[in-house]
Amino acid sequence: MKQYRIAIIGTGNAVGSHIEAVRQAGERAELAAAVDLDESRVQAICRQHAIPRWYTDTAQMLAEVQPDLVHIVTPPATHLPLALACLEAGAWVYCEKPLCASLADFDRLTAAEAASGRYVSTVFQWRFGSAARHLKRLMAAGEMGRPLLGLCHTLWYRDLAYYQVPWRGKWATEVGGPTMTLGIHLTDLFLWLMGEWEEVWALAATLERPIEVEDVSLALVRFANGAVGNVINSALSPRQESHLRLDFQRATVEVTALYRYNNANWRYSIPDGSPDGEALARWQTIESDVSGSHAVQLQEILDSLDRGERPFVSGSEARRILEFSASLYKSAATRQPVRRGSITPADAFYHAMNGAPVR
Ligand SMILES: NC(=O)c1ccc[n+]([C@@H]2O[C@H](COP(=O)([O-])OP(=O)(O)OC[C@H]3O[C@@H](n4cnc5c(N)ncnc54)[C@H](O)[C@@H]3O)[C@@H](O)[C@H]2O)c1
Repeated sequence: MKQYRIAIIGTGNAVGSHIEAVRQAGERAELAAAVDLDESRVQAICRQHAIPRWYTDTAQMLAEVQPDLVHIVTPPATHLPLALACLEAGAWVYCEKPLCASLADFDRLTAAEAASGRYVSTVFQWRFGSAARHLKRLMAAGEMGRPLLGLCHTLWYRDLAYYQVPWRGKWATEVGGPTMTLGIHLTDLFLWLMGEWEEVWALAATLERPIEVEDVSLALVRFANGAVGNVINSALSPRQESHLRLDFQRATVEVTALYRYNNANWRYSIPDGSPDGEALARWQTIESDVSGSHAVQLQEILDSLDRGERPFVSGSEARRILEFSASLYKSAATRQPVRRGSITPADAFYHAMNGAPVR
């Protein structure tokens, strides 16, 4: 068994899940160093978790530690330059969402992956729970018939204090509102389950918070398989909920949770009088009960490192949600439907989620 040297960049609020993920990897991973611009913060985290080396400079850390894998846990707009530096130094990257600010950024990362022979994977822990994997298998086998209608609602509540953190609420630093930062988990899961989307019509608004980015967005989606769906991302919903509901020809499958789910959060239903009673019992039986987490995703990345192969949530699997988000924002801004594949480098929405003119 190979042991991989891991470093973490960014030791703020979200670092705990990453430290726990490395701990759960046991002998497969050594947490060798942490970096943060805030010296007292990185020192405190390293002391608390017995991480042997701390840095305030990523280039110095990369040169001295030479990590195999770097977790990037910094604010969204910093992800691209940090990921590029890690790839150039020969490290693989496991980067928090949103991976980067635009399709242009993503395509730069893809070129850097090709030049370095290393891969960038992005955090989408919701794809890694046993219940989501089980549903994907049932769908691949066509068990419940064709999917017809999908609802994907991330209805969360983020107060004024949340948006007082300086990087939040601005296009230049947060790179989007709840579409890019809150609903991105459930929307990624929805798009992964449903297969390729074809067209999106959307509306985005800043109704309540004093921020540049939207605090709510609503979209209608048409999928290549003929199904239709609706995606809502909100930072303004006092009773918080993440709700995904897929109506198939023979059954409804739904998950209701907030930030994490287990098998118990999922429900399968059939119409009254349906002959599918026995099938329902089978559909509802999920072999294991694994909550989607950073730890489970990290195991998959370490397996990919062992094989030297592209990790699951990278490449086209990571680009899909960025293209969808760019298209949602473009549709909201132009009041026109946007088709998948139509945002090319000649389009302002290729370069920025708000379609700001390229300077
Ligand atoms: N996957 C999830 O469930 C989840 C949950 C929460 C946050 N996040 C994501 O995690 C990331 C970080 O969020 P957070 O809430 O921890 O932010 P935070 O502001 O609490 O912490 C970010 C840290 O990064 C440091 N930093 C900023 N720029 C840096 C740089 N260039 N080099 C080194 N350190 C730098 C800051 O000093 C700060 O300590 C964001 O992308 C966020 O969207 C993901």
